[in-house]
Amino acid sequence: MINGMKALNRSLRWGMVGGGGTSQIGYIHRSAALRDSNFTLLAGAFDIDAERGRAFGQSIGVAADRCYSDYETMFAAEAQREDGIEVVSIATPNNTHFPICRAALNAGLHVVCEKPLCFTAAEADELEQLCAEKNKVIGVTYGYAGHQLIHQAREMIAAGQLGDIRIINMQFAHGFHHEAVELENASTRWRVDPRFVGPSYVLGDLATHPLFIAETMVPDLQVTRLLCSRQSFVQSRAPLEDNAFVLMEYNNGAVGTMWASAVNCGSMHGQKVRVIGSKASLEWWDEQPNQLRYEVQGEPVRILERGMGYLAASALADDRIGGGHPEGLFEAWSNLYRRFAQAMDATDRDDSAFLQDFWYPGVHAGLTGVRWVEKCVASADAGAVWVDC
Ligand SMILES: NC(=O)c1ccc[n+]([C@@H]2O[C@H](COP(=O)([O-])OP(=O)(O)OC[C@H]3O[C@@H](n4cnc5c(N)ncnc54)[C@H](O)[C@@H]3O)[C@@H](O)[C@H]2O)c1
Repeated sequence: MINGMKALNRSLRWGMVGGGGTSQIGYIHRSAALRDSNFTLLAGAFDIDAERGRAFGQSIGVAADRCYSDYETMFAAEAQREDGIEVVSIATPNNTHFPICRAALNAGLHVVCEKPLCFTAAEADELEQLCAEKNKVIGVTYGYAGHQLIHQAREMIAAGQLGDIRIINMQFAHGFHHEAVELENASTRWRVDPRFVGPSYVLGDLATHPLFIAETMVPDLQVTRLLCSRQSFVQSRAPLEDNAFVLMEYNNGAVGTMWASAVNCGSMHGQKVRVIGSKASLEWWDEQPNQLRYEVQGEPVRILERGMGYLAASALADDRIGGGHPEGLFEAWSNLYRRFAQAMDATDRDDSAFLQDFWYPGVHAGLTGVRWVEKCVASADAGAVWVDC
């Protein structure tokens, strides 16, 4: 159980780019990073509007002289300070991730970056190389992957409880953008504009989450080829899709499907991952994250509950309150940020033994997601054809 203890014997000096007072995702970054005191928020360029960003930073306790107008000024000024930041989180629209990540690594900072990591696999490759060159970490906030029962699934699959893996069904299909809400909502507007969101909408914005959850549950499987069909039901969004289906083949002969949608009317999140083996299946749904369905052919369904003693040690390690009490997305993110802190600290100490088997969504996970989206778009735009991965 975590119980609020710090993971490190220090607190990492932390700054943020984006995630300002009008943003959707800034608050969960701060809640997660600050939860266990592994990070101390000291600086920020919180907003595209410099004045609004400064006012917001001060309202959450950041010193006025460390609320900056933009990330370049922040990186330069912080580098001059003895107590300058050593980590930065990037919670801005997608088009800015690559230049800000690159600038941060070049400024000697560890990074936490929002997904999708960047627009192209070539950019993601460059970031991965830069991380190696600078000996820095990029943690990617696939926040749902911090839910404990995903790690229970990983253990059960590794132990052979499902038998041979045959099928992976993934979906993230909500209904919130079933009509052109972007006309009114700024946070949606950039998501349907290729200049800001990149080559896809729901494939990058939504599908990369269950894709990474499935990768976490079944790390040995790799997609060998895929076929994608994408649609723009709200026509003004074309060529960006608000719905997509993907068929996948894996290296062990398994097959997979992905449904990503923002027009699934009436659905809240609809994010589910179902892994089907030759003996049994597991299913996890982000709207009931404290339960994992375990279905053995010919036996009653078992619902495994978070925080219970019968779970694997890795699923109990991040428990914060014990079974029965529900935990949620804020706890899952805190678990990720805790791991980011541990990975950054171990990297600073060149502790390769610690890092070898230490799980967290790093730059390579970001690259895998970006590469997958790129292949999906290539397949869909060629008329839904099979594409090798
Ligand atoms: N991991 C998740 O579950 C999850 C959930 C939602 C959003 N996201 C990702 O988070 C990112 C931000 O999404 P959002 O929904 O919060 O967007 P948003 O539009 O609600 O907020 C974006 C914020 O970034 C600021 N900003 C924009 N450009 C900036 C710049 N150059 N410098 C400084 N600040 C800048 C804006 O002022 C605003 O505060 C996106 O990449 C999105 O894909 C991830």
